Amino acid sequence: MSVIGFLLFAFLTTASKAKAAPDTLLPSCKTTCGDIDIPYPFGIGEGCYAKEYGDFSINCEDNSTAFLSDSVYEIVNISVTGELRIKGSTGFDCYDTRGNNNYSFPQVDVAKLPFTFSHTRNKFVVVGCDTDAYIWDQYGTRYSGGCMSYCESLESFRDIPNGSSCSGLGCCEVSIPRGINNYTTDMSSYYGYNYSMDFNHCGFIFLAEQGQYTFSVSDLSSDRLETQTLPIVLDWSIGGQTCEEAKNNRTVPYACRSDNSHCIKSNNGAGYLCQCSTGYQGNPYLPRGCHGMVNKRINCFGYQPKEEGF
Ligand SMILES: *[C@@H]1O[C@H](CO)[C@@H](O)[C@H](O)[C@H]1NC(C)=O
Ligand SMILES: *[C@@H]1O[C@H](CO)[C@@H](O)[C@H](O)[C@H]1NC(C)=O
Ligand SMILES: *[C@@H]1O[C@H](CO)[C@@H](O)[C@H](O)[C@H]1NC(C)=O
Ligand SMILES: *[C@@H]1O[C@H](CO)[C@@H](O)[C@H](O)[C@H]1NC(C)=O
Ligand SMILES: *[C@@H]1O[C@H](CO)[C@@H](O)[C@H](O)[C@H]1NC(C)=O
Ligand SMILES: *[C@@H]1O[C@H](CO)[C@@H](O)[C@H](O)[C@H]1NC(C)=O
Ligand SMILES: *[C@@H]1O[C@H](CO)[C@@H](O)[C@H](O)[C@H]1NC(C)=O
Repeated sequence: MSVIGFLLFAFLTTASKAKAAPDTLLPSCKTTCGDIDIPYPFGIGEGCYAKEYGDFSINCEDNSTAFLSDSVYEIVNISVTGELRIKGSTGFDCYDTRGNNNYSFPQVDVAKLPFTFSHTRNKFVVVGCDTDAYIWDQYGTRYSGGCMSYCESLESFRDIPNGSSCSGLGCCEVSIPRGINNYTTDMSSYYGYNYSMDFNHCGFIFLAEQGQYTFSVSDLSSDRLETQTLPIVLDWSIGGQTCEEAKNNRTVPYACRSDNSHCIKSNNGAGYLCQCSTGYQGNPYLPRGCHGMVNKRINCFGYQPKEEGF
């Protein structure tokens, strides 16, 4: 390519990119809520989210806190590759020396939304020394799981440093199956923490993204975990159809609207996801949403065009 040819090429790719960088369907739609990016098919308000594929609406309260649709689930972040994190809560069951207890058992239901709990990224974690805990879907129709954790003295932890993994002593964890969109939890204690009362009188449970919690022996004795809110990873997908069905559906448009994008099967539950093709990046759900990464290459003058908007 001649120098002039190259300059022209560089100019054209930069110019076309500047033009082809939409990040919403309508110019009036907001793309953030507080610090949180809201990528299409998600959106705030009528006309801004992809209603035709399910409830992708976001409620942006006080212009700063994002909730899933009209639910109480607060969003941590959304990725255009099919993951979304919400703030989870921690359940507890605390006993006093007379055998009275206080408890709260979390439950989460996103069955009305196009989401499932990620079975690969989340773990159900149980912390305590006299703790049986369970997690199951509504009525236990598809599954129920859980684990139990017992310990009688802090001596047992001598060789287990703080910040070690959840190994079965004072802490246990289990996976959840694929395709779950609602859960309920429960906890019980066999001895009312009578054998561990001097160092542990509470059990704690939570579903959370793996790697976000590290067990610490000191968590047994404090009530720090009671107010802990770790992220839960949800997988989102489009429709309840396969890629082939979606491409041939005449009533509902195919969601992979961008050129240089393609359809992939959701790895959790029904539906599909869109992906920019190799060499492209951006939002495959928007017309012209995927743009080439050719601009990233440093040309022979060592000039690197600025990334715009992404
Ligand atoms: C919401 O936030 C945006 C961006 O930070 C700001 O421009 C707008 O004025 C805010 N609106 C209200 C009602 O606070
Ligand atoms: C989303 O949140 C998780 C958990 O807080 C964090 O690890 C991850 O880096 C965040 N991702 C983005 C893209 O902000
Ligand atoms: C239950 O909660 C109340 C009020 O917060 C507190 O006074 C009481 O000590 C708690 N009981 C137990 C067993 O933790
Ligand atoms: C909860 O999940 C189960 C399957 O995992 C499903 O059969 C049930 O309908 C769901 N509950 C609601 C309220 O949708
Ligand atoms: C763990 O942390 C607690 C509180 O911070 C401390 O008292 C204890 O000595 C630590 N244990 C070990 C084994 O480091
Ligand atoms: C624990 O000890 C208290 C006080 O002695 C007693 O009332 C209670 O029944 C005990 N709980 C269990 C489950 O054994
Ligand atoms: C098209 O998609 C809609 C919504 O997912 C579905 O209800 C309908 O059955 C589909 N039609 C065909 C012909 O697949």
